[in-house]
Amino acid sequence: MKFKTVSVIILLIAVLMMIFIGCERKVINESNGDLVADASACFTCHSDQDRDLRAATFQWQVSKHASGDNIDRNRINAGFYQPCEKCHTSEGFLASLEGESASGEYFTQIGCFTCHAPHTNTNLEVRVQQAVALMNGFSFDRGSANLCASCHQSRANIDELIMGDTELSLRWGPHHSNHADMLAGTNAYEYGLDIGNSAHTNVAQNGCVECHMSASGDITLGGHSWNMYDEAKDHYNVTGCNVEACHGASAFSGGFGYPADADYDWDGNDEETVEEEVAGLLDSLEILLEDAGMLDDAHPTDLTVSADSAGAVFNWLFVHEDRSMGAHNTKYAVGLLQAAINFLTTGDPEGAPAAAKPKDLALINR
Ligand code: HEC
Ligand code: HEC
Ligand code: HEC
Ligand code: HEC
Ligand code: HEC
Repeated sequence: MKFKTVSVIILLIAVLMMIFIGCERKVINESNGDLVADASACFTCHSDQDRDLRAATFQWQVSKHASGDNIDRNRINAGFYQPCEKCHTSEGFLASLEGESASGEYFTQIGCFTCHAPHTNTNLEVRVQQAVALMNGFSFDRGSANLCASCHQSRANIDELIMGDTELSLRWGPHHSNHADMLAGTNAYEYGLDIGNSAHTNVAQNGCVECHMSASGDITLGGHSWNMYDEAKDHYNVTGCNVEACHGASAFSGGFGYPADADYDWDGNDEETVEEEVAGLLDSLEILLEDAGMLDDAHPTDLTVSADSAGAVFNWLFVHEDRSMGAHNTKYAVGLLQAAINFLTTGDPEGAPAAAKPKDLALINR
């Protein structure tokens, strides 16, 4: 036989083997030997048309989760980073869901398999479905956002952090991750007041996901980028806001500027947006706390102060770290800042200061 014919026959045998053996090949879970699925089941997600996976991957690549910034906060890098790895690394998070600590020789960023387990569950449900307890015991229950709240929650329980005179320090406070607490309106220093919440606390049944993952048609906004704002393009993701049942189909375009109901920051200008009012309050409180020596360059100093003063520092950090400038929960953010300013300037958390301009507010209490 000619060489060419031999090749053709071998090829034919190979193809026949693939047809009779390959297609019947079962996919077995390596860890426990269980049958997972027929290979054809893979094609429900992996096909020549798996546009959802490709789009999600493309978006994820530009996200902060994919950046891998701060994944060095793990025990291999330094023993004291061990408590950080459950939120800052994929391996740490997965182990924490099992109530264990991570093992292995490397840590990776928050990726597809941190949030999904498609090859175990054969679907794209997120790993955390049940309600999540925040540090003060509050039960956060907002659909697929329970996943987000597992990491995006304050690291402090306010009821234990401030119980009387309190020693401040550089890293004292809620950490950068208090978004679930802010959205739910809980776990800040409320001065015994009933501050209340804005609509977003309850109308967004899927919490974070409804706004940050709303499809914008843009790779760098919403979806698996989780971005609300693309600085390079100066584009805002307003898809989640411009919903008929929410703000109407065209309420927002060039930004999140929402007119404030009142002059929250007492600067005499009642034409400002929520963002501007919250920024005004943050500025005023920062100046007061700096004057009192409790805050320096956006960090607490190492003074020991009364509970109500520590509460003022905590509330400033709580709104500052949340970074939504009122978008997550206007009423709670404004209430926390006003109560702190009132306390520092009048001694009474409810005693609204008479001064018109915040910069004129005088510190009388610490
Ligand atoms: C429910 C959807 C779904 C099904 C069903 C599914 N996968 Fe996946 N698979 C994913 C996702 C999501 C990823 C991550 C994104 C990507 O790599 O495209 C992935 C990635 C992979 C990867 C790359 C692994 C890596 O580390 O990046 C392999 C290999 C793979 N799948 C094989 C399979 C096989 C074999 C089957 C059939 C048993 C299967 N998948 C079934 C969703 C699925
Ligand atoms: C409960 C989960 C959780 C734990 C535990 C945690 N972090 Fe974080 N951390 C986050 C989240 C979520 C963010 C992102 C906040 C954001 O981007 O708005 C963050 C942000 C940060 C940032 C700021 C990153 C930036 O670019 O601004 C630093 C630094 C940081 N964490 C360090 C640590 C260290 C060090 C530890 C351990 C001592 C730790 N974190 C423990 C959830 C956590
Ligand atoms: C930080 C968590 C997180 C990460 C990381 C993540 N996802 Fe998702 N994914 C979600 C959430 C939340 C949903 C929406 C679930 C819902 O509301 O039912 C979702 C939905 C999906 C869907 C359904 C269709 C869609 O786009 O909404 C696909 C497909 C998907 N993810 C693929 C991926 C792939 C591929 C990766 C990795 C490149 C990935 N996901 C990484 C949280 C995550
Ligand atoms: C495993 C923990 C974890 C989960 C789950 C998680 N995140 Fe994050 N997220 C982080 C950390 C950590 C960062 C900051 C990365 C860094 O700077 O180190 C972050 C960053 C972000 C950012 C970017 C903030 C910025 O600085 O631009 C957004 C937005 C965000 N997450 C939203 C979400 C949403 C929405 C969900 C749920 C679908 C979610 N995250 C789920 C840990 C998590
Ligand atoms: C009602 C819509 C909405 C909900 C619900 C929501 N966010 Fe936001 N979020 C925003 C807006 C608007 C901003 C401000 C974006 C800006 O000004 O750039 C923001 C800002 C942020 C930021 C600061 C970084 C950034 O992207 O600007 C993080 C981190 C964040 N949100 C995470 C979360 C998490 C985690 C949840 C759930 C616990 C959540 N958000 C719920 C709308 C929402």
